[in-house]
Amino acid sequence: MAVPLSNVELAEERLDLETIELQLLLEGIFRQYGFDFREYAHASLRRRVWRRVRAEGVDTISALTDRVLHHPEVMERLLVDLSINVTAMFRDPPFFSAFREQVVPLLRTYPFTRIWVAGCSTGEEVYSLAILLHEEELYGRTRIYATDINEAVLERARGGVFSLEKMKEYTENYIRAGGKKSFSEYYLAKYEGALFDRTLTENVVWAPHNLSQDGSFNTFHVILCRNVMIYFDRPLQTRVHGLFHSSLERLGVLALGRKESIRFTGYEDYYEAIDDAERIYRKVA
Ligand SMILES: C[S@@+](CC[C@H](N)C(=O)[O-])C[C@H]1O[C@@H](n2cnc3c(N)ncnc32)[C@H](O)[C@@H]1O
Repeated sequence: MAVPLSNVELAEERLDLETIELQLLLEGIFRQYGFDFREYAHASLRRRVWRRVRAEGVDTISALTDRVLHHPEVMERLLVDLSINVTAMFRDPPFFSAFREQVVPLLRTYPFTRIWVAGCSTGEEVYSLAILLHEEELYGRTRIYATDINEAVLERARGGVFSLEKMKEYTENYIRAGGKKSFSEYYLAKYEGALFDRTLTENVVWAPHNLSQDGSFNTFHVILCRNVMIYFDRPLQTRVHGLFHSSLERLGVLALGRKESIRFTGYEDYYEAIDDAERIYRKVA
């Protein structure tokens, strides 16, 4: 006679089944739509997927898979859930101070600079960088390539309209980041939002790019990628570091921000730290 399963065994079995369902969903998304979330850290993916399961009014991840595969609009909604888009202008102000103090002097030595902002979300980081470079009189000789996996956020970034309610917080960030003017000079309060000066994006190319699948598309003097790789598992982080290393010019700058780390990626020996706390590095090998 079969021995009944204990509660712990039942819970383990459910977890195993859930892992299978999650893997099938991710495989299906990849095959049907080309978005590759297969190497994202599972703990946070699982939470997000379950949120979408409930929001779509189904009971299991398998039922969600069925919807996702047959209805592109469900995929779009899930994509928004999976690609966490939280961002802010002058987010982590000390990072921008460090960039101004340590990286700007290096950029002055180049006649022209190409900067890649990978995982730019709705663009707040790019507008912040453009403002900083503008104030340092470097913007005119810079091209910023701003990329993200998610087309919807890029569309919002191109629009350059951000919530008016956020302007108080962004002004404080700007001041803490060493801003040199009055922040309100950069936007017009209209259209139910703050419309940012179009000249700030004159030298910006917005384009879709998937860090887990796509290759290099240029070489850069600076690569900025903050709050993106924390969602990737270790092999994917290593892949992305390989991509960044091969895309950086000799002595190019890799700016990761304090939530990311280069340790244990296999690339730590190729860089020296410019700013330890803000995880800003220079390629030396
Ligand atoms: C939390 S936001 C970070 C935005 C900005 N870098 C910042 O620090 O404020 C993470 C962004 O990474 C993007 N992303 C996630 N996976 C990606 C991938 N495989 N390739 C490119 N972008 C990705 C998401 O769409 C999202 O917009």
